[in-house]
Amino acid sequence: MADLDPGRRKFLSRLLAGLGVLAALEAAWITVSTLGSRRRATEAEDGGVIEAGPVGRFPPRSVTPFPESEFYLVRLEDGGFLALHRKCTHLGCSVPWRADEERFACPCHASAFDIRGAVLSSPAPRPLDLLAVEVVGGIVHVDTSKRIRRSSFDPAQVVDGGADS
Ligand code: FES
Repeated sequence: MADLDPGRRKFLSRLLAGLGVLAALEAAWITVSTLGSRRRATEAEDGGVIEAGPVGRFPPRSVTPFPESEFYLVRLEDGGFLALHRKCTHLGCSVPWRADEERFACPCHASAFDIRGAVLSSPAPRPLDLLAVEVVGGIVHVDTSKRIRRSSFDPAQVVDGGADS
């Protein structure tokens, strides 16, 4: 740069400074993007409270899958809610809902569960696990962070849906 005239030297200096600023901005953007995607991945893996939707979105006697969070939101005939973890309590296979048979039927060893997750046929040793449900302001929330084991169905497990919104 020693041979360059002062105008050209000034131009090249500014160009280099500008490229340095661009490189710094890009590095910052990459850092922020990486941290953001890690946080999203952690939330998905660790679970947390998710907003399933307004009460009125779930008709009585319906089973709505939430595949990414591995549960079914069940609305019973009386309007109450249960969130059932979709893993079989025998050896953990994913259990699909068979609407035509009105039961959850495990494809691995033929266990079956009713709409409340209660065992209809073994070898499953206990009902499908529950996730905590809370209805706040007409919106159904499900806590996917921990499964609740139970030995049988109890009406106290059902969460009142209140009035449809
Ligand atoms: S894993 Fe479901 S019956 Fe065995």
